[in-house]
Amino acid sequence: MKYENLLIDEEDGILTLTINRESALNALNTQTMLELQHFFGENGPSTKHLKGVIVTGAGKKAFVAGADIKEFLALDAESGAEMSQRGQDVFFLIENFPKPVIAAVNGFALGGGCELAMACHMRVASEDAKFGQPEVNLGIIPGYGGTQRLIQYIGKTKAIELLMTGDMIGADEAWRLGLVNHVVPHDLAVEKAKEILNKIAKKGPIAIQKVIEAVNAYFQYDQDGFDAEVEAFGDTTDTEDFKEGAAAFIEKRKAEFKGR
Ligand code: COA
Repeated sequence: MKYENLLIDEEDGILTLTINRESALNALNTQTMLELQHFFGENGPSTKHLKGVIVTGAGKKAFVAGADIKEFLALDAESGAEMSQRGQDVFFLIENFPKPVIAAVNGFALGGGCELAMACHMRVASEDAKFGQPEVNLGIIPGYGGTQRLIQYIGKTKAIELLMTGDMIGADEAWRLGLVNHVVPHDLAVEKAKEILNKIAKKGPIAIQKVIEAVNAYFQYDQDGFDAEVEAFGDTTDTEDFKEGAAAFIEKRKAEFKGR
């Protein structure tokens, strides 16, 4: 697929994916969602060799300012529910992606933008980033998982307040609430995300994939997170990497992981 709204740049095993609709503050229109679905789906480019993916927004002002409101006007109950389901499915692809995905939030992360950041495994915010779920201002609610993931990250008390008021919060408050992992000076969000991915790349890649699976299982009501952890742990112990990692520890040397 040829991407119109995603810029892809790969360097040193780290793929930076930039939502590139700066004139609309990178709002997620249907085309952009299709491109994200393709990229993170099974027909997307091979990412096996990658350390991870960084998701960010073009320009200095916005990460993503939401779903594209200009496409909203024609929605009815049926097409609205379909849009929400499709959006959730795309963001589940990101949440379940087998390589670490970090959002480098470089400005407004509102509505679908906040939901996109929350679907990533971690969030690094620049100090002037702003987060919020302002959908109630439009008379709708978040439809791409925002009502669920916001509670997962910051708890019901603050989540329901932000969801009901539509208030925006700054990066420092987002950090205090547990919504973001790190706050850095503007322009350094991608750099910080790279630093984290380079650190993770020294660990066993299968173990990292299994961390993603086991942590995500905690939030699946049809799965028992502890059972999933048992299974994932068993899978990791059955790898060459685990034998190498354990041997390296005992021999007091650095492990050489092969992803097998
Ligand atoms: N969908 C479509 N277009 C959007 C958009 C969105 N979610 N957010 C911003 N844009 C467009 C604006 O319409 C404007 O386009 P125009 O120049 O053709 O008029 C352009 O991006 C710049 O936005 P503007 O509102 O002029 O910038 P601002 O600095 O005054 O305000 C925001 C920035 C983020 C506060 C404001 O754009 C906003 O509130 N956006 C909507 C946020 C939202 O409700 N998101 C949830 C959607 S469900």
